[in-house]
Amino acid sequence: MATGEVAMSREETEAFKVLVKNTLERRLFYIPSYKIYGGVAGFYDYGPWGCQVETNVLNLWRQHFVMEEDMWEIRCPCVTPEVVLKASGHVDKFTDLMVKDEKLGSCFRADHLLKDFLTKALEEFEEIKREREAAPGVAAQVVVEKKDKKKVAEKKRELLTPEKKREMQADLAGLDEFSGPELGAKIKAYGIKSPESGNDLSDPYPFNLMFSTQIGPTGTLQGYMRPETAQGIFVNFRDLYYESGNRLPFAAAQIGSAYRNEIAPRQGPMRVREFTMAEIEHFVNPDDKSHPKFKNVADLEIYLFPRAEQTALESHVKMRIGDAVEKGIVDNETLGYFIARTYLFLTKLGINKNRLRFRQHLANEMAHYAQDCWDAEIECSYGWFECVGCADRSAYDLKAHTAKSGHELTAYEKFDEPKDEMKLTIVPNKKVLGKEFRKDQKILSESLEAMTREEALALKAELEEKEKVTYKVCTTGQEFQLTKDMVAISEKLEKSHGRNFTPSVIEPSFGIGRIMYCLYEHCFYTRPAVPGEPTTTVFRFPPIVAPVKCTVFPLMQREVLNAKAKKMSNGLTRAGVSNKLDITGRSIGKRYARTDEVGIPFAITVDFDEGVTVRERDSKQQVRISDVDVVDLVRDLANGSMVWEDVTAKYKLVTVTESEADS
Ligand code: ATP
Ligand code: GLY
Repeated sequence: MATGEVAMSREETEAFKVLVKNTLERRLFYIPSYKIYGGVAGFYDYGPWGCQVETNVLNLWRQHFVMEEDMWEIRCPCVTPEVVLKASGHVDKFTDLMVKDEKLGSCFRADHLLKDFLTKALEEFEEIKREREAAPGVAAQVVVEKKDKKKVAEKKRELLTPEKKREMQADLAGLDEFSGPELGAKIKAYGIKSPESGNDLSDPYPFNLMFSTQIGPTGTLQGYMRPETAQGIFVNFRDLYYESGNRLPFAAAQIGSAYRNEIAPRQGPMRVREFTMAEIEHFVNPDDKSHPKFKNVADLEIYLFPRAEQTALESHVKMRIGDAVEKGIVDNETLGYFIARTYLFLTKLGINKNRLRFRQHLANEMAHYAQDCWDAEIECSYGWFECVGCADRSAYDLKAHTAKSGHELTAYEKFDEPKDEMKLTIVPNKKVLGKEFRKDQKILSESLEAMTREEALALKAELEEKEKVTYKVCTTGQEFQLTKDMVAISEKLEKSHGRNFTPSVIEPSFGIGRIMYCLYEHCFYTRPAVPGEPTTTVFRFPPIVAPVKCTVFPLMQREVLNAKAKKMSNGLTRAGVSNKLDITGRSIGKRYARTDEVGIPFAITVDFDEGVTVRERDSKQQVRISDVDVVDLVRDLANGSMVWEDVTAKYKLVTVTESEADS
């Protein structure tokens, strides 16, 4: 499975996935949405425990990024008018490639079909190889017979050439770079059919993932549910820049729902159609992407999966982030800084650092405007899965919104010393233009004034050479015959004190739901409850993210103990320590097992003795402590300013047997 982890077979991984899913759904972390009506793929409700975990993840995110990095948090609507998403390119380009079952019409994501096919084929390749080595001659046959399919057998034998394996590995590594026709050709070449029916598949074609809607009753204002929160930040750039004292760098953040009409969401909570995103747009001067705090993280060693390793079919490598930036593997310090901060955030949450890597986008996988892009991928039972995208989006978005809205989304840089600069002036002769072109004078003058330096100088040269020059207004397509007297274009040397420029933006984009699901898997384990009893399951959440910090139990069902427990619970609540009171009268052992199952780290039990006991979830150790001190102790444990080892160093352990017998 992972670096430094015990490998699991495909069957074990599937069994693990089912066990985690059952626990999460039984204990209401997730509930498939609209379940009583049969559900709709790609939608999940968060039940009580899931909501609490999400709140804690988001609180930590705010603390770690918004507060510690001094960002502006904003909140924009989910419903977005078309013009915004047209400018950003989403209306035209936010697509995935889809193939259809030619007979039944079911839809599949083309790259996912190819990925599943190759992953499975390569696994089977290894399986046959292993079994052949163990028992030459018979093994391949055994594996095939198990599946009881002659055709599959032939296919697999065909696969057993090292060249074929290499080709498949290369296709898998380069999957994200394939164009539609290339994907279609691969699907045909490998003979991939509809996984549901075995029918032939159509050629891949683009499907736009945005949910569309109408704003207002007239039906004339087209809108979309936002597919990311980022655009809300870009359109507010000017005001946020002003609020930052017209200084760069600064960063804005947004947490909120995003919507994508995924083609075939079959990966449980990892691929859904509505999810929470937390995004940061860090605006910088494109000529200076250094970061003042980079030195604080430069020594962190992180698994990186650079482009070169991917194309050479090698695996990810552990690297000091400082070295990765120095060697130019990661494009710049600011991007490196956010990769490191993302690593620290995820591991603080409880993501296993050996199952976390940052994968660089391949050259063609990146959006054309992006400078460099690294996905935080977390390994779970669905494989290595992108959970955070860290991209240097250059100046693309701000430029696109400037062009569409006509509002300059730029920053100003004052030079230390004034500089000599060639200054271009374009003066349309409105009188002459008006006489010649009447009402079109305005649009023509505006277009002339908006010419770039290159365009203006080319026009000037042409006008000097020819008597008449055809000029096209690109926004309307109108053509005009211009003469030299209609526009004056000149350049002269001037002292310049500063410049306007479009900032670049570094964007870490977090899918909160994916991170949460991976966290559930990484924290999940089984253990025997009590000797002779069935095994129980536990979530080993770090206290900071655990849905509730402690439970409060009366040792047994007695009025006086219930009253004492209620008082204790109220005291904890007043101190801001989330807690659950359980006076159900179930045996203490069963109550512990139920709270372990949802990952509550501490349990306080009141009994007839002086003080209370505090039990830690994973070690099952208990200490006795005064009921006055316990509130501070659990609060410190919950916020991470104290760890359980500090408690056992200070207080004597008490010996108890976790009885399953009802009280
Ligand atoms: P994928 O390739 O898996 O579809 P993406 O490359 O489209 O993802 P981005 O556009 O980079 O994803 O979105 C940023 C983050 O949003 C992702 O890292 C992921 O955590 C989250 N995300 C994207 N799509 C989904 C989804 N359908 N369900 C849950 N989270 C998602
Ligand atoms: N502290 C009481 C018990 O665990 O039984």
